[in-house]
Amino acid sequence: MPDVPSDLREARRRHDELARTLRDARYRYYVLSSPPMTDAEFDARLRELEALEAAHPPLVTPSSPTQQVGAPPDTAFPPVTHPQPMLSLDNVFSREALVAWAERVVRSLGSEATPRFVCELKIDGVAIDLVYRDGVLATGATRGNGVVGEDVTAQILTVDDVPFRLAVDDPPALLEVRGEVYYPLAAFEAMNAERIERGEAAFMNPRNAASGALRQKDPEVTRQRPLAVWCHGLGALAGIAFERHGDALAWLRDAGLPTAPETRVVDDVDAVWEVVGRATAARHDVPYEIDGVVVKVDDLAQREQLGFTARAPRWAIAYKMPPVEQETVLRAIEVNVGRTGKATPYAVLEPVLVAGTTITYATLHNELQIHAKDVRVGDTVMVRRAGDVIPEVVGPVLAERPADAQPWSMPADCPFCGQPLVRPEGEAHHLCENVDCPNRLLESLGHLASRGALDIEGLGAQTVELLVREGLVRDLADVFRLHEHRDELLALDKWGEKRVDNLLAGIEAGRQRPLDRVLVALNIRHLGPTYAKLLVRALPSLQAIREASPDQLEAIEGIGPVIAQAVHSWFTTPRNAELIDDLVALGITTEAAGTAAPANVDPELLAGWTVVVTGTLEGVTRDEAKAALEARGAKVTGSVSGRTSLVVAGTDPGSKRDKAEQLGVPVTGEAGFEHLLAHGELPAAG
Ligand code: IVH
Repeated sequence: MPDVPSDLREARRRHDELARTLRDARYRYYVLSSPPMTDAEFDARLRELEALEAAHPPLVTPSSPTQQVGAPPDTAFPPVTHPQPMLSLDNVFSREALVAWAERVVRSLGSEATPRFVCELKIDGVAIDLVYRDGVLATGATRGNGVVGEDVTAQILTVDDVPFRLAVDDPPALLEVRGEVYYPLAAFEAMNAERIERGEAAFMNPRNAASGALRQKDPEVTRQRPLAVWCHGLGALAGIAFERHGDALAWLRDAGLPTAPETRVVDDVDAVWEVVGRATAARHDVPYEIDGVVVKVDDLAQREQLGFTARAPRWAIAYKMPPVEQETVLRAIEVNVGRTGKATPYAVLEPVLVAGTTITYATLHNELQIHAKDVRVGDTVMVRRAGDVIPEVVGPVLAERPADAQPWSMPADCPFCGQPLVRPEGEAHHLCENVDCPNRLLESLGHLASRGALDIEGLGAQTVELLVREGLVRDLADVFRLHEHRDELLALDKWGEKRVDNLLAGIEAGRQRPLDRVLVALNIRHLGPTYAKLLVRALPSLQAIREASPDQLEAIEGIGPVIAQAVHSWFTTPRNAELIDDLVALGITTEAAGTAAPANVDPELLAGWTVVVTGTLEGVTRDEAKAALEARGAKVTGSVSGRTSLVVAGTDPGSKRDKAEQLGVPVTGEAGFEHLLAHGELPAAG
């Protein structure tokens, strides 16, 4: 509970201040599609206001933000009065508060009651009210102030998901449907990337983008945006009635209205909490932004009994997931130079806790993005960390910009080697083109030793740094000369024989990795494992790849002009040519092994399967299992998500198996795996 002043005058002063901030925030959120603060901050302020009002009831007035939802309607769109007011939801942030809500529900219904709960994802989009009269869409409206919204009928009709006419034979006289308009994540990211490339301002998040797209005066502009809708409830009805919310959702689906597939009906609050756990774990696996789980009493008669407060129904609650965005101060912008020479600006932040992790650094991608987002040193910025994705700066909170904050620009020279940074024509990124740039070397060596490249055990980041500092490694080829320096390695601080021999054995193994992994290890721009495999399949020797012209490279199935150019220009850079000569002389793999799939294998057998292999399998190594799957057209990935079709789990499978079970992804053992390779399907159960 927030601290509240006991003195009414002091409480009123704080109440005024908070109410003003919250009204302004609602207006900016709903009308301008540009919220000045995070949802979490809004919620915290609203809770403080509620605490003030609980302690000082005279502060509760009809105009208090605790008594209102949404914002005053924007006069740019004609007003529409909703047949039934659109209320908001109360929030909970913990299991205890969720359980307390469920207990209140049971108490109000009579302690014998056993209400069932419908759990839905809480979509972070824009609320919409669709009114169908005699089966035909009469109005589509935003929430506005909850009573009167904006008429966006023409705009909503451009959304493919929204039927003009319901697909039922005997439509009800009136059907008011509540839903959420959202901007699918992949499309949002692509759209923002394009805007940035054109030098236009980026949207902070998909919700603002959805809101902006829906509020286009010209519906043809809305039509260009891939908006989508999930329907999650009903308002006023005439000529139709339901007993349960679950039945209503099923009816809506049959009538052609989209309902979210993740909805679950459960028997008690423990099961609700399990749904919350699963939804939180899979939060970033759904293709749209969610920020919680909405829990609703299923039985509509029980809902009647429970009723409403001024703001929200008592029969529903929103469990809010920990926010993935937080505000903090941008202390500095620095530039890193990666293994391919790409110069990436990053934010140095006042440390801030986001979704359970303290964040001090966040990527800013490139100079264009910094300008498009107008991020400046000294700004208070919104930082976002979604799942395993690198934290990023979403944008500045303009209201808090210091008067002297200056636009940022890329330094003229590489901060590590002092050579000029250049931005190739048509590209967003600056490059340090100095092959011997000390930071490029460190990053290149780290990558050379990494799993997807030569997988050299014992050559981690700290060892790389030490070897470079001691002058034992000056380029990639020096790694394969280290066996000539065994005594110097032994003389290194605290290195025993075992460690030295392990490292040398790791390097020996690295020397023998297949040609495609050698290509990956070279740190050629844009050339990851998939393209390296394509190259090697078409040109099975290092010499052939080295001599190929851009046209020859581009003629290879799957290789486009960007990669063709990057490969060609890498091999024709004199310093790289020297490096390749050295590596070849040092015995690196130069020819492809028999990489073609065995003749009796159908390369399409497992097309469309996405498989994760985890734990120890008895008959095969993990790499062999992966190769066998890929030879049959399956995609093999490292982490389990909603898109995984199967997890192959050996002994000691660890957390991936648990995650699969949480997400309902099938798991099989070795026998099932072999059956799959032979038949393209899992063995029948039982
Ligand atoms: S039910 C009486 N279900 O969240 C209120 N709302 O914070 C009924 N929202 O106003 C709302 N997903 O715009 C409901 N599955 C869902 C939702 C959902 C997102 C939005 C909705 C609501 C807001 C409350």
